[in-house]
Amino acid sequence: MGIKLDYTGAQTPLDEIEIYGLKIKTIATVGELNEHEQNNIEEVFQWALNRKIPVDTLLTREWIFNMHYRMFNKVWDWAGEKRTSNKNIGVDKYAIDPAIIYLLDDIKYWIDNRTFDAVEIAIRFKHRLVTIHCFPNGNGRHARLCADILIKQLTGRDSFTWGSHYSMYQESELRSAYIAALKKADTGDYKPLIEFAGS
Ligand SMILES: Nc1ncnc2c1ncn2[C@@H]1O[C@H](COP(=O)(O)OP(=O)(O)O)[C@@H](O)[C@H]1O
Ligand SMILES: [Mg+2]
Repeated sequence: MGIKLDYTGAQTPLDEIEIYGLKIKTIATVGELNEHEQNNIEEVFQWALNRKIPVDTLLTREWIFNMHYRMFNKVWDWAGEKRTSNKNIGVDKYAIDPAIIYLLDDIKYWIDNRTFDAVEIAIRFKHRLVTIHCFPNGNGRHARLCADILIKQLTGRDSFTWGSHYSMYQESELRSAYIAALKKADTGDYKPLIEFAGS
């Protein structure tokens, strides 16, 4: 048998790390996992964007962690739980809580003082959140949804489109453009990420 090239990754079997904490034992491939995660996230997306959530509630550690729990709790038993190991991305595991306090203080200050417009505040929130990397996985999707909810609550406008492809699991030009925009944001230039979020 020859090697099957699989450009979508959908047939790729889950590796040991991916299986850890998986609640649905019938999931065997990356494609099936993505689908289950996406269904779980979709429900939360509908739930969260159709209600009024006070910004003071939204900008708490409790609410932020609870959102991750809601987004992934049907699939992972570690949903909503803080990362306990260090990764090549994200702050030291012991620095997660202080970084969240610092971030939430900044966001509230920016809102109160109109330091940036609402779109830039939401995008900075997203970027800082994913840079902290609170969870073992799902940080990108979680941070984007949190930014979507924040912008909705601040302005009433629709959520961001994020390149019009919400999940971005696979390597693609879209993902490369997204990562390039994140790297610009790492240097303090938020323009490309703001543009990407609205595209
Ligand atoms: N250089 C970078 N700077 C900031 N964020 C990055 C960088 N590289 C990757 N990321 C973020 O990390 C996310 C991947 O983390 P992960 O926890 O696997 O999230 P998800 O499972 O939702 O994709 C990406 O979606 C992106 O938002
Ligand atoms: Mg991931």
